[in-house]
Amino acid sequence: MQILNGREASQAIKDQLKLSVAQMAAQGKKVPHLAAILVGNNGASETYVNAKVKACEEIGFKSTLIRAEDTISSLRLLDTIAQLNADYDVDGILVQLPLPQHISDTEVINAVHPDKDVDGFHPINVGKMVLGQPTYVPATPYGIMLLIEHYKIETKGKHAVVVGRSNIVGRPMSILLSGAGAYGNCTVTLCHSHTTNLKELCLEADIIVAALGKPGFIKEDMVKEGAVIIDVGITRVPDSSKKSGFRLSGDVDFEKVAPKCSYITPVPGGVGPMTIAALMKNTFRACAAKHHDR
Ligand code: GUN
Repeated sequence: MQILNGREASQAIKDQLKLSVAQMAAQGKKVPHLAAILVGNNGASETYVNAKVKACEEIGFKSTLIRAEDTISSLRLLDTIAQLNADYDVDGILVQLPLPQHISDTEVINAVHPDKDVDGFHPINVGKMVLGQPTYVPATPYGIMLLIEHYKIETKGKHAVVVGRSNIVGRPMSILLSGAGAYGNCTVTLCHSHTTNLKELCLEADIIVAALGKPGFIKEDMVKEGAVIIDVGITRVPDSSKKSGFRLSGDVDFEKVAPKCSYITPVPGGVGPMTIAALMKNTFRACAAKHHDR
């Protein structure tokens, strides 16, 4: 069994980006600039956005963090996005999800200009991804593809079972793994809350991507010997022995499942850091596209 070390793989990608940005700057070109909008005080969202801003600093990107109260009106939020769309210096815009109830995710996602949509959530970019056209691929599934590539895991002809059909992870993951690109060409089964024979399907999987947000859900009796396990879950579980009052738990019962696997991602330190590296790659591309357009 080999651990898929997301911290290491992510660092390798960030180091490469850092070199490329230094080259850009040395040529007198503008460096990538990511603008992140954080609405409210959700603890997990704060952690994620801070990690994104920190990665920008580490690589040499510019970043702007815009914080808004959770009472912000939809109109004001859309106006903020419009201003960022119009700002030439800003290459990538991300609005951290989830948003407060009174704001429509769809309206916000549709408001970000597709050329600056480094989250890859805009319908135009989702459409391009489905068609296999070059675009911004959502950070979590893109990061997982980069991790698979980093470890050169053979995917061609394999049966991949994706558990969870969210727009952010499960659904795009199923598209990428079934696509004709490098590290695609899987036969994919996309499972969700109405799947009746989940255990049987998982037992047939060469690759399982668990993205349902239920701690420890994937047990050892659901996993075939030698399977590749990608755990996207990162739930905060109350734990009084921790200073923070919680620990992070994946969707896979790691201790029991790991001995059966060929490869497995830990939580934390697996998929999480890869999503950051993927976002940075998207932001770099958004900026590089501007340089080419000039
Ligand atoms: N919330 C959870 N994952 C993501 C993500 O990839 N992007 C944004 N904007 N919000 C998220």
